[in-house]
Amino acid sequence: LLVNFENGIAVLTINRPDKLNALNIETITELGNCLDALDQDSNVKVLILTGSGEKAFVAGADISEFAHFDLENGKKLSGDGQHKLFDRVEKMTKPVIAAVNGFALGGGLELASACHIRVVSDNAKMGFPEVSLGVIPGYGGTQRLAQLVGKGKAFEMIISADMINAQDAYKWGLANYVTTQEELLNKCFEITNKIASKSPTAIKTAIKVINAGYN
Ligand code: COA
Repeated sequence: LLVNFENGIAVLTINRPDKLNALNIETITELGNCLDALDQDSNVKVLILTGSGEKAFVAGADISEFAHFDLENGKKLSGDGQHKLFDRVEKMTKPVIAAVNGFALGGGLELASACHIRVVSDNAKMGFPEVSLGVIPGYGGTQRLAQLVGKGKAFEMIISADMINAQDAYKWGLANYVTTQEELLNKCFEITNKIASKSPTAIKTAIKVINAGYN
């Protein structure tokens, strides 16, 4: 995980480009710990979460870690991940913006969905391939996707395992904005600069109250 911090804005980059930034247990733990620390740091106003390289935001949970899991281990992986990372992102007291710079699949789309805002590059492909692997999105993605795109589209995306492109993600409400890959971080900074000048107490409360309505 790479962390850059400037003018109240922390940029977190998941840095496993050779594995398309797939989320293994170590990455999930490191990211969760980092979010804990940044949430408590009063100098941090907004966070941007992205993936390393030009190909992927995150291509999913690391399949090599769970391919042979039984039901009990699967449940534990899912529960621990939700607790350490996915619910953690959603409940951050500072806004978290996902800069989706390519594939956001499976756990990667679950992670982007847990963020408060999503900015997506025009080469992005987003989807939930889990049912092809005999599992479901286990980090809360079934709920968060339906909250973002509605129940009908959520059923279609999860049951078909199809990927959608950035324009469809925008039309369906999964992406707040679509930009070129070159402009992706600039667009995020445009948003974070607006947020950084607003009341942190009010923002923290707004996040809490919006989330409460969906839980
Ligand atoms: N878990 C573990 N490793 C992954 C991964 C994942 N979810 N996604 C990609 N990788 C690894 C590949 O195994 C490969 O590693 P290797 O070079 O050591 O063999 C590397 O990342 C590059 O991926 P590759 O498949 O060669 O790239 P591609 O451009 O041909 O295909 C994808 C890109 C995203 C279509 C393809 O990697 C893919 O389908 N990944 C799995 C997506 C998925 O099912 N995610 C949900 C998991 S629940």
